[in-house]
Amino acid sequence: MAECQGDGEGAKSPMELYEKLTAQGEQVRALKTAKATKADVDAAVQLLIQLKTDYKQMTGQDYKAGCPPSENSVAPDNGPAAGGADDEDTVDPWNVSTNNAKGVDYDKLILRFGSSKVDKELVDRIEKVSGQKPHRFLRRGIFFSHRDMHQVLDAYEKQKSFYLYTGRGPSSEAMHVGHLIPFIFTKWLQDVFDIPLVVQLTDDEKYLWKDLSLEDCHRFAVENAKDIIACGFDVNKTFIFSDLDYMGASPEFYRNVVKVQKHVTFNQVKGIFGFTDSDCIGKISFPAIQAAPSFSSSFPQIFKGRKDIQCLIPCAIDQDPYFRMTRDVAPRIGYPKPALLHSTFFPALQGAQTKMSASDANTSIFLTDTPKQIKNKVNKHAFSGGKDTVEEHRKYGGNPDVDVAFMYLTFFLEDDEQLEKIRQDYASGALLTGELKKLLIETLQPMIEQHQQRRKQVTEEEVKLFMTPRPLNFNF
Ligand code: TYM
Repeated sequence: MAECQGDGEGAKSPMELYEKLTAQGEQVRALKTAKATKADVDAAVQLLIQLKTDYKQMTGQDYKAGCPPSENSVAPDNGPAAGGADDEDTVDPWNVSTNNAKGVDYDKLILRFGSSKVDKELVDRIEKVSGQKPHRFLRRGIFFSHRDMHQVLDAYEKQKSFYLYTGRGPSSEAMHVGHLIPFIFTKWLQDVFDIPLVVQLTDDEKYLWKDLSLEDCHRFAVENAKDIIACGFDVNKTFIFSDLDYMGASPEFYRNVVKVQKHVTFNQVKGIFGFTDSDCIGKISFPAIQAAPSFSSSFPQIFKGRKDIQCLIPCAIDQDPYFRMTRDVAPRIGYPKPALLHSTFFPALQGAQTKMSASDANTSIFLTDTPKQIKNKVNKHAFSGGKDTVEEHRKYGGNPDVDVAFMYLTFFLEDDEQLEKIRQDYASGALLTGELKKLLIETLQPMIEQHQQRRKQVTEEEVKLFMTPRPLNFNF
């Protein structure tokens, strides 16, 4: 069979593909009945076989005539991303939106993407295996979904190590608070498991998608690296790389990119990412570049050529389409599938209908904001779950489930008891909106100021060292 497979000709859902298959089956029968030439029948049969392969890939099941796929039937690792079966919530690497003021329905998303819930059993297991109290992002369901996390822990218990991979698309100099979420959590994972980390800065991606020069994208990568380093990563355990630099410097990395490219069709990336015929070819082949760091052989300087070290990717769930594709390809090119831990989205100031996004300054609190800007943004823009008047608020209470100040505190306030008391007081009306916002401002201002202080101390030499391909302090 050809390496590049599949021609479900634009079929985006299992049902569309099922219908195509049924029609093709009928076509084959009609040709045979009409005693068509062998060449015509063979061509129709070939297409039928191809469609069956595509169907199996998309749904994880064999095609059976008369048995249409159920609504949630997506292949565990290669389900549709763009659009999806759920009309309400859009979640892909470029857009996150929902009509629900409480935010995206994450339970539905788990079903749609075919991932698994981070349940209490998994959180308890991480605590047991790491010997550390679970991070507040785990205790509070912020990292809510995973793929193969139990497998990673099983192996770790048998002394088989793993590595972390995460990334950032450097579209501007300033990162926002939402971007910190995966990095804060990755730092915790690195500390408790004592494992290597690779951080991909996709300056190539931003050049392809945005109206920016290559020079600017590369400069933003280096600037963003400073913010990432300021999260506290250990230079002896961490490699940060710009795609524009590393692709040319590492033959092993580029070989893996090409292997992935050979095993994914245009049709598949159209289905996964919603690319159209007018997208430039750079975009169409880019997913292979985000896939390659999931394989340890892309970093021979760290893993000494070993290709069997399992990768764990912490990220928000918007990045999952890239890794569904990666997991689908991995076994076909002889590599382990990367495991994933997905977070929810840090909401926009205006409400959880969308995520905080750097492209709209008013939705975001940036890591460069001054204490005054933070105060003004929270007071002016943070959507409130409070009532219109103090009297009504005291009488009926506020709604913490839609209140952005409360949501932000769930991400950053460490003390569980204090957070629960704030929730109860706000819901009962004892705590007013202005008081809740003040608590948030007092939490964010020192947090961001400390980040800025740490960032100021990051020297150019230090950035260079983090970004130089070199062995790390691990024996593989
Ligand atoms: P980017 O720069 O859009 O986002 C960087 C990381 O931040 C996460 N993220 C958020 N998390 C919580 N709340 C938000 N509002 C929010 N906005 C963004 C993203 O999920 C991501 O983890 N193509 C990628 C770069 C990349 C990457 C990776 C990311 C390359 N390899 C591996 C994660 C893992 C991008 O443009 O990310």
